[in-house]
Amino acid sequence: MKINNSEIIPVSEITPYETYMGRRDFIKAASAALMAAPFLSFNSEVSAATNASLLGYTKSPYGADEKLTSYNEVTNYNNYYEFGTSKSDPALESKGLVTHPWTVSIEGAVKKNKQINLDDLLKLAPLEERIYRMRCVEGWSMVIPWIGIPMSKLIQWAEPTSNAKFIEFVSLADQSQMPGVRTNILDWPYTEGLRMDEAMHPLTIIAVGLYGKLLPNQNGAPLRLVVPWKYGFKNAKSIVKIRFVESMPKTSWMKAGPKEYGFYANVNPMVDHPRWTQSTERRIGGGLFTPRIKTKLFNGYAEQVAHMYAGMDLVKNF
Ligand code: MTE
Repeated sequence: MKINNSEIIPVSEITPYETYMGRRDFIKAASAALMAAPFLSFNSEVSAATNASLLGYTKSPYGADEKLTSYNEVTNYNNYYEFGTSKSDPALESKGLVTHPWTVSIEGAVKKNKQINLDDLLKLAPLEERIYRMRCVEGWSMVIPWIGIPMSKLIQWAEPTSNAKFIEFVSLADQSQMPGVRTNILDWPYTEGLRMDEAMHPLTIIAVGLYGKLLPNQNGAPLRLVVPWKYGFKNAKSIVKIRFVESMPKTSWMKAGPKEYGFYANVNPMVDHPRWTQSTERRIGGGLFTPRIKTKLFNGYAEQVAHMYAGMDLVKNF
């Protein structure tokens, strides 16, 4: 298969699931060897070094057997308050966000503070595609083919000390590029957190792409957290700082509404949000009349993650 480095596949071409699957089938037929390592399509705006490191990705065993949400929906129905509060704001307002060069600071309970740039981060592990169900606290959900590396690889590289019990993830907050940051809708920078075992869990990834392409800005370019058994707000976008800490960090949403947004934020149909039910969800893209579907405990990933919460009161630790 020939790869045209400068070509970015038009959105319209990869929108329907059938087309996406069709292309994958085509690749499979064309070359079994290449099927093992499909390629992330290159982005002419990204540094040559970053492009060169995005050589390919493998499909992982974590693929969900579900209909994917279209590329169009995934990239035009977003929450990214730094660019505004309506679902269409991020795609419109984030176009100019500069995502290269990009450096992530590693701080706190680590052998020594250090920095890592995107190119070096991508060398920590081979890229994998992970098809994950994503459930937003607002009651909608999507199925997204992410591309990324396990978070555990970055944690190992960071060399945390035994004092590191939690990790705090801090997003970029740049007033000059992000109109939402000039308002006080949230306590900026956007901050999220995970317990160490949650961050180390093999399902937790740092995503750098989706649908075989580099992450669009509105989805958190150049790198964001993806934790599929938790509500969407845990998945901090455009991360610039990772702090290893001893006690549970206060996240932006916990500060905004402590009774509504807990630290754990595990998807749980039995624990309602104070203002609405969490027992069902609407899959984006199904149309207005599609019946809501039942939300599953831990977003359907209970088999893999429930052991981490054994003995915990999930109503108190929401
Ligand atoms: N990260 C930052 N920095 N700012 C945000 O507003 N929104 C969160 C999360 N990460 C948000 C963020 C919420 S509420 C959701 S549902 C997901 O991003 C949405 O990710 P998506 O737009 O890629 O689907």
